Amino acid sequence: MKNIHKTVTALMQQGKGILAADESNKTANKRFDAVGVEQTEENRRKYRELLFTAPGVEQYLSGVILYDETLRQGTEDGMPFPEYLASKGVLAGIKVDQGLEDVSPDKGPEGGQVTRGLEGLEDRLKEYKTLGASFAKWRAVARVGDGYADPAIIENAKRLAEYACVCQSLDIVPIVEPEVLIDGVHSAEDTEGSLIESLAIVADALVKKGVKLSHVIFKTSMAVSGKDAENRAGAQEVAERTVRALKTALPDDVGGVVFLSGGQTPEEATGNFNAIARLEPFPWEVAFSFSRALQEPVLELWAGHDEKKELAQAEFLKRLTLAVAADAGGYSPGMESI
Ligand code: G3H
Repeated sequence: MKNIHKTVTALMQQGKGILAADESNKTANKRFDAVGVEQTEENRRKYRELLFTAPGVEQYLSGVILYDETLRQGTEDGMPFPEYLASKGVLAGIKVDQGLEDVSPDKGPEGGQVTRGLEGLEDRLKEYKTLGASFAKWRAVARVGDGYADPAIIENAKRLAEYACVCQSLDIVPIVEPEVLIDGVHSAEDTEGSLIESLAIVADALVKKGVKLSHVIFKTSMAVSGKDAENRAGAQEVAERTVRALKTALPDDVGGVVFLSGGQTPEEATGNFNAIARLEPFPWEVAFSFSRALQEPVLELWAGHDEKKELAQAEFLKRLTLAVAADAGGYSPGMESI
């Protein structure tokens, strides 16, 4: 259990966060398509290399979550990415779920979705460990309004607990991510309610399965208003609702809490995270674990052009600097123009 404890402590160290660079090939391709980048394995490698080799990235990152393909790729001069990251003191993690499945095909995603990936999980994790992964991630989704009685919520919680149990048996830190989706016109108050329900049911399932909570990291949404809500809650309200939900739903001894950005703009996610950090202390360490809120402007700048690499890296470092400032409650929107 010694290593797993060290991994949790390293991931949750103060003043750093976790980059989510674990977009599946399908998602990465969709994002490439939006900025006119050809959808090839080499372009995905190049883009990830741009992120991981941005000068000084290790000052801001404790870990990076990778996708299967990326874990097996490396820098242009042939160093595997996990090894490269390790040389900078950054831990490599791996997304191990295999995506979402509609519960009732006739209703589509609205009818609830469960996450696949338990089959063969132990063998995959063993291999990932030999490739350098020390932590893992499994994402499930819930819609605002889905509650304790929803069959998909219950099934997802069971699967998250099973996944966490397998990870811990191999000394791998499980990040459990029951994301509450931003899609819709709901209020921040509604999201707060859904966060409480979805986090509490997962915490309960973990305890029932005998998972050691201090060696689990929760990855959560913030209590934001729906993307299409008419009056979207401001940072102070989001922060108060988020913290109340987390304190209500999560036991004090979980290993840490990290936030996803979930479709918020980079400025919104950073501002909301900052307002959350200002409400510290909490029973657990908190950190950012954004994908889009760190990467969106970077990908737009790069857009597949080698000559834009340094510009894009500078943008990435700027977003990381702001996220780390937010972690200390020291971010302000005026800093966006630096
Ligand atoms: O599973 C989702 C990622 O880990 C976080 O991505 O910050 O774009 O929501 P996001």
